[in-house]
Amino acid sequence: MSKTPVIAVDGGAASGKSSTSRRLAARFNLMHVDTGSHYRAVTFALVQAGVSPHDTATIESALAHLKLGEEIDGQSARISIGGKVPREEDIRSDAVNAAVSPFAAVPAVRRFLFDYQRSQAAVAERSGFSGLIMEGRDIGSVIFPDAPLRFFLEADEATRAARRAKEGQTDSIAERDRIDSSRKTAPLVCPEGARRVDTSHLTLDQVVDLLAGEIEQATGLAPAQA
Ligand code: CDP
Ligand code: CDP
Repeated sequence: MSKTPVIAVDGGAASGKSSTSRRLAARFNLMHVDTGSHYRAVTFALVQAGVSPHDTATIESALAHLKLGEEIDGQSARISIGGKVPREEDIRSDAVNAAVSPFAAVPAVRRFLFDYQRSQAAVAERSGFSGLIMEGRDIGSVIFPDAPLRFFLEADEATRAARRAKEGQTDSIAERDRIDSSRKTAPLVCPEGARRVDTSHLTLDQVVDLLAGEIEQATGLAPAQA
């Protein structure tokens, strides 16, 4: 088991997980992993294979053919499937936005990614990073419940919708949050003991500074860059 410090960042869609985690990764020389992109990549592969989220038996056999790996790209580790990192435009398409939460609710899909996601701590260590910052929906509750620091980012729905609209994305945030929060396996919840941060009225800089202070305190990591 890797001893590398792990920071868990969870929250609903457009709560600021990715932008905040990337900035913290640069500041503390952490390896950044976006687990939403894992679910998106697997969803893309399953949709390409013509599999439906309701057909559990076919999902299991299709998953058995997917070989996962990672490529380090700057500060981030990106998932590869069959030796290829899927393209951003493919995993963030409208079709994947609509299908990802139904697939992510399937226990076989979550089981398939569990060991892979846990293994990223060792990848961070052997790749020379000072730690791992992993963002998603169940990182502090299921993947790394013992992480020294677990954050749960929130923002009101209007703020989150405005953030996505500003990025020019068509994305049904409320619908994804509803499915993610109500599923039986690893629902989106603020894990007990996690630090809840409402970002609705905070700028990205303010959120990053707030979390950075807590990271320094809890892990003893020093900023590699201001
Ligand atoms: O960027 P955004 O917050 O909109 O979504 P994302 O992080 O790319 O995640 C896409 C979807 O993957 C989520 O709506 C969840 O259904 C699923 N997901 C999950 O179930 N568990 C995770 N740890 C991360 C994402
Ligand atoms: O990863 P997640 O879906 O949780 O959110 P994100 O992609 O990091 O952030 C969604 C958008 O909100 C981005 O365009 C961020 O720049 C913006 N944002 C913001 O305006 N204020 C914050 N405190 C955090 C994010």
